[in-house]
This record gives sequence, C-alpha cells and structure tokens, in this order.
Amino acid sequence: MEGKTVEQSRVVMARSMQPTDANGYGNVHGGAIMRFVDEAGGAAAIRHARMRCVTAAVDHMSFRAPVHVGDLVTVTACVTYTGHKSIEVECQVHAENFITGVVTHTATCHLVFVAIDEDGHTIPVPPLILTTDEDHERWAAAERRRASRPRD
Ligand SMILES: CC(C)(COP(=O)(O)OP(=O)(O)OC[C@H]1O[C@@H](n2cnc3c(N)ncnc32)[C@H](O)[C@@H]1OP(=O)(O)O)[C@@H](O)C(=O)NCCC(=O)NCCS
Repeated sequence: MEGKTVEQSRVVMARSMQPTDANGYGNVHGGAIMRFVDEAGGAAAIRHARMRCVTAAVDHMSFRAPVHVGDLVTVTACVTYTGHKSIEVECQVHAENFITGVVTHTATCHLVFVAIDEDGHTIPVPPLILTTDEDHERWAAAERRRASRPRD
C-alpha cells in the first residue's frame, strides 16, 4: 500500500463557539471541544486512509484555559503514527478572542482511529511517510504512548 506524508492529511477546522456550546455563563463545555477534536481528528485519519475510520481511543485531555462563546476555536489535526490497522492523530486546539485577537492554547490531545471496511472488519492503513525531524519526533512520542495505552 502506498504511503502518505503527514502534510497529505493535515486538517485545520475552525468555528466560532455558539451559546448552545456553553453553560449559562458563556463558558464552553469541555464536551463541545472534545466533539470538535474527534471530528477534526477523524477527518485527518480518513484523509490519510481514504477509508472509513472509527475512534478507538482518546487520550487524556487537559483544558489549559477557558473558551468563551464567540471565540474562534481552531483544531489542527495531523497523523503522528500508523500501525498495521490504526492511526494516531494529534489535535492542537487554540481559541482566538475575535475582539482582542489574543490566541490561547486550549488543549492538545491524541486519538487512535481504526480503519474498517463496510462490514465493520478492521483493515490495514497506508504507512506514514516521515519527511521532517518533527515528524520523526512525533512518531517516537506516539510509539511511547502506544506502549503505555491501556487496552480492555
Ligand atoms: C476500534 C475497534 C474497531 C477495534 O476492533 P478490534 O477487533 O479490537 O481491532 P483489532 O484487534 O483488529 O486491532 C486493530 C487495530 O486497532 C487498535 N486498537 C483496537 N482497540 C484499541 C484501543 N482501545 N485503543 C487503541 N488502539 C486500539 C489495535 O492496536 C490495532 O492496531 P494496529 O493494527 O496498528 O496494531 C472496535 O473496538 C470498535 O468497533 N469499537 C467501537 C468504535 C466506535 O464506534 N467508536 C465511536 C465511539 S462509540
């Protein structure tokens, strides 16, 4: 199967946060951000594999700063590692205050997606081609996460 570079599947998704994403005080729910991360991460995995992919695991996620209604949230998702049938994606989340222009780093999260066929059977994914030092560093870190990731 032909390999793909990190750049071939990188996804950047942005949207402004709405009152339905938040509590009564205008603070955006962590779950709204998590859903957005899952969507952007899934898009990168599917772009890499050009196959259906399901979320198998979501790693720890810490919210470093609050996000408010009206902020523009951007999720940048890139493939960090490919196994035989799985793809790890890193999602970087940033929030921009439209009025002040201040951008804050909200969170970083790693997710594992697994490619499946139309019958739901897991199938092999294209290998990741590493082209930069950063690609190699992310791959090495992903290998360490994979080794310590729990499986039921
Ligand atoms: C994810 C799922 C397809 C894995 O099925 P499975 O039969 O255990 O998968 P396999 O044993 O064939 O393993 C395939 C790959 O998935 C990886 N994998 C499976 N479960 C995993 C998990 N919980 N965490 C991380 N990786 C996982 C395996 O390590 C393997 O990777 P590799 O090929 O790169 O070595 C299955 O558990 C499933 O359908 N889960 C529900 C997915 C879903 O619907 N998610 C949306 C939220 S409900």
